[in-house]
Amino acid sequence: MPDTRFPQTRLRRNRHDAWTRRLVAEHALSVDDLIWPVFLREGTGEASAVASMPGVVRATLDGLAAHVEPAVRLGIPAIAFFPATDPAKKDAEGTEATNPNNLVCSAARLIKREFPDLGLIGDVALDPYTNHGHDGVIRDGYVANDETLARLTAQARVQAEAGIDIIAPSDMMDGRVAAIRETLDAAGLIHTRIMSYAAKYASAFYGPFRDALGNLGTLKGDKKTSQMDPANSDEALREVGMDIAEGADMIMIKPGMPYLDIIRRVRERFEVPTFAYQVSGEYAMIQAAAQNGWIDGDRAMMESLMAFKRAGCQGVLTYFAPRAAEYLRATR
Ligand code: PBG
Repeated sequence: MPDTRFPQTRLRRNRHDAWTRRLVAEHALSVDDLIWPVFLREGTGEASAVASMPGVVRATLDGLAAHVEPAVRLGIPAIAFFPATDPAKKDAEGTEATNPNNLVCSAARLIKREFPDLGLIGDVALDPYTNHGHDGVIRDGYVANDETLARLTAQARVQAEAGIDIIAPSDMMDGRVAAIRETLDAAGLIHTRIMSYAAKYASAFYGPFRDALGNLGTLKGDKKTSQMDPANSDEALREVGMDIAEGADMIMIKPGMPYLDIIRRVRERFEVPTFAYQVSGEYAMIQAAAQNGWIDGDRAMMESLMAFKRAGCQGVLTYFAPRAAEYLRATR
């Protein structure tokens, strides 16, 4: 043990000036760590505000390039699309998910043309497209694993063919990573990456996201038969291990801040690039408190993002991405 006795050792010495604090900092956050989730809506014209997520909107296709342009200018490496599907297009099987001209595919083609160097992430799960709000198809009252796989692989394929670079399955079906990898490879899409939502918990923190998708009243029941129990930690390692074995290029832990311990355990066990999703409810909490003047919103934003780097993440999906990138630029 090094000598850490007082008064020879004063840990506050290194904190005395801003320049030493910068020198001894163990972790850094940069724009390269940020992935921006972007909501899409049908129709044309003005983006619509998401009431439970102050500062977040659903963009229309005709306004999408202008919506995304500031993120590109700031140097954000990748964005992730989430569609608010017209309720008339939702059905029990989530048919619209595999329509090559659905919102996500159309957005991918448009943004690839406009900004070819921006990474595009496509969420794969049926919940934006089902009239019951579950991530898969239902048989005998249960989200049927194996029948759902066939739908997810078809969804992944239309997205990849439209220009999505990273397929991100968020459905938590067993075996979906292998099934998607096989389908992509068979279609010659060998460069399309997979970022699996490997340890995804059945969480109350997804509430505002369902508002954004227009799914607030839609979900029947809960997702506890597919998503993980917040009581479990060892199980997250099994989930991550299986997804890596099945061919995941990157993995994700979700939600973020309540699960920093899971991120740390995953990083200690596996070498795979690891991401956190700072989900809608986490964003809403910080924004709501900031709007009330109860916390400093920008500082809370930066502190929460640094926590993911400290826990071991390579990057973070966050609704704060453009704002954090601007903050980083202004304070450099
Ligand atoms: C859907 C999906 C969800 C989120 C991302 N993909 C919600 C859910 O599983 O119910 C949540 C993201 C957020 O809350 O910001 N499979």
